[in-house]
Amino acid sequence: MRKKIAAANWKMNTTLAEAESLLQTMQGFAPKLDENHIAVFGIPFPYLSLAGEKLGEKPFHFIAAQNCSDKASGAYTGEVSVAMLQSVGVRYVILGHSERREYQQEGNALLAAKTDAVLQGGLTPIFCCGESLSIREAGTQDAFVQKQIEESLFHLDAQQIKQVVIAYEPIWAIGTGKTASSAQAQEMHAHLRSVFAKQYGDDVAAEISILYGGSVKGANAAELFGQPDVDGGLVGGASLNAEEFLTIMNAL
Ligand code: 13P
Repeated sequence: MRKKIAAANWKMNTTLAEAESLLQTMQGFAPKLDENHIAVFGIPFPYLSLAGEKLGEKPFHFIAAQNCSDKASGAYTGEVSVAMLQSVGVRYVILGHSERREYQQEGNALLAAKTDAVLQGGLTPIFCCGESLSIREAGTQDAFVQKQIEESLFHLDAQQIKQVVIAYEPIWAIGTGKTASSAQAQEMHAHLRSVFAKQYGDDVAAEISILYGGSVKGANAAELFGQPDVDGGLVGGASLNAEEFLTIMNAL
């Protein structure tokens, strides 16, 4: 059975004191999670160890980084390797977020290399894809997102692709309060699953968790997660509010 996942992406938010307080509150919660319904916390690099201490011991809670290097080690000033992340208890790495694609010029080829590095290190990539408003308005979103997937992931074999979590995040829905309708989300998720099915077969495609991201909050999570191909969410703004994120975890 593919996993249902509530994933927080704190982005570049919180001071140490704020992070500590948020993690402390989360530590006190008892969300309805199990082996197939899990929570993942995408925390800024400086607080990853702290997050591991606060949440890493809680069952079905996992810590994620928001990026990593494609290189193993060496003279890459300012970069963070997969081995470093693994050594502080990180289990997931968000890759290819639209903000990194836009502001750090991360392209499909680099993201293919980062995916390889994460998998080789035994961690799980959360691979983000999604179209801009102009692409959505032109009606070419299916082909655009398919190309992101093909160019960054189709070199993987069936065993490897099953380890990858996909996050579909339409850029026009990120931080805008304008959520994709549950029908729009379902339509794209079904398309993505068919893309995987064509390349790897139905059984493999059925194993891949596909999360939706873009203005997910407590009030809309249950409806979005109720769609047959929506396996949870990658949550920005609402994940900075402990009670909101608790509602989202429980909506799985
Ligand atoms: P918001 O939930 O703030 O729209 O952000 C979505 C996102 O980018 C998660 O990675």
